[in-house]
Amino acid sequence: MYRPPTSPNSMNRTYYMLPPTTLTMGDHYQIKPLSVIEVEKIGKAGIRGEQSQSTTGSRKSYSAFPVEIATMCAELFMRDAEVVCDPFAGWGERHLACANEGISYIGFDLSPEAIDYAKTTYGVDNILGDSRCVDVPNHDGLVTCPPYWKLERYDNDGGLDKLSNWESFLIEYELILTRFAAKANPEATYCITTGDWRSQGIYYDLTYQTAKIMEKLGFTRWDSVIFTRVKKVNYNIMLPQVKRLGYTVKLHETLNVWKKA
Ligand SMILES: C[S@@+](CC[C@H](N)C(=O)[O-])C[C@H]1O[C@@H](n2cnc3c(N)ncnc32)[C@H](O)[C@@H]1O
Repeated sequence: MYRPPTSPNSMNRTYYMLPPTTLTMGDHYQIKPLSVIEVEKIGKAGIRGEQSQSTTGSRKSYSAFPVEIATMCAELFMRDAEVVCDPFAGWGERHLACANEGISYIGFDLSPEAIDYAKTTYGVDNILGDSRCVDVPNHDGLVTCPPYWKLERYDNDGGLDKLSNWESFLIEYELILTRFAAKANPEATYCITTGDWRSQGIYYDLTYQTAKIMEKLGFTRWDSVIFTRVKKVNYNIMLPQVKRLGYTVKLHETLNVWKKA
């Protein structure tokens, strides 16, 4: 259920509700704390309506950040946090979910289009900036969805999605997580969603790479939640090819939760 914001710096805003989720628990939590969650489909049935997922067309494409996962992060993993950061703020669903719980959220994004979208759609103010060099505030939580390298191209100048190779992407991704972790208070909780994918015969293991970075930064695993669109995606058309090549259709992403020692 929507609750008015309680943090002092959010009292004067107009608030917008995220679309209702289908997973309602009854008491405070809208989302059942389960380790596997079926989220809404991206596209027509998704929260942003029909939109292109093309990385080659002229339209810049964004995947929807699942409302269910934004809500779970805010209600469950960030429940003790006062200040939450996001180095890749995207279109604003995580900001809105945190604001609805009375949590101060400070999100940075390099895309003016994303900043505008968050403002006009959800009434939230994210900060235009490059997370490789912004001033990171002290915080006790982080909720983010990094670019999955160049799977999507965003409307920004020089973002991580524009880097020409995977190795450079990982170096700059680690640099950003390192800068933010340096300002994380003891026992801060970090929620980072990741997916793995295949392209031209190469398996891109962003989930594992993120875990390696977080362990190097002194965080320990607290939880992980698999989110899927198994019931809503027509994967049958992909089966002949993956059976021939000997691998699986990727239908899940992971919400990875760490705590700083
Ligand atoms: C958060 S995702 C966007 C789609 C996503 N599923 C979401 O949560 O909305 C990636 C975002 O990272 C931003 N980005 C990429 N490199 C960045 C950088 N160096 N600093 C800040 N934002 C960056 C992109 O502009 C994009 O909005």
